[in-house]
Amino acid sequence: MSNNLSWSAIVGLALAFIPFSSASVLAQDAAGTYKAKCAVCHGADGKGNTSMGKNMGVQDFSSSAVQQESDSNLAQIIEKGKNKMPAYGTKLSDAQIKDLVAYVRQLGKGK
Ligand code: HEC
Repeated sequence: MSNNLSWSAIVGLALAFIPFSSASVLAQDAAGTYKAKCAVCHGADGKGNTSMGKNMGVQDFSSSAVQQESDSNLAQIIEKGKNKMPAYGTKLSDAQIKDLVAYVRQLGKGK
């Protein structure tokens, strides 16, 4: 029993350190999440140039309206949803949402 406990403590510690060890892995994570969950509507380039996006009236992430939103507002929209934008608060962690906000900004700058 106590053996099991210490193993899970070690694994837990190791996992806890991964996010700090490699920022680029995190950025790739956000790109992967975005492709899997967001690109259907927002498009791989964030311009919303998809049939779903056009139907729902998504905004181009590079538009000044989106870029002028604060990080916390964008995070809020991803977490809670807005009109036809689905809420992801139960599916994604706060850290994932934060990374996605950064990714959305990056897309908005055309990178
Ligand atoms: C089913 C289509 C759909 C999916 C999937 C989707 N969105 Fe959206 N999203 C929208 C729509 C529509 C809006 C505009 C909401 C409004 O302002 O009425 C929006 C708005 C946003 C905004 C606010 C900026 C803006 O355009 O007003 C952000 C940021 C955003 N989405 C990020 C994401 C992220 C990140 C994901 C994936 C986790 C995602 N969206 C998945 C449809 C979608």
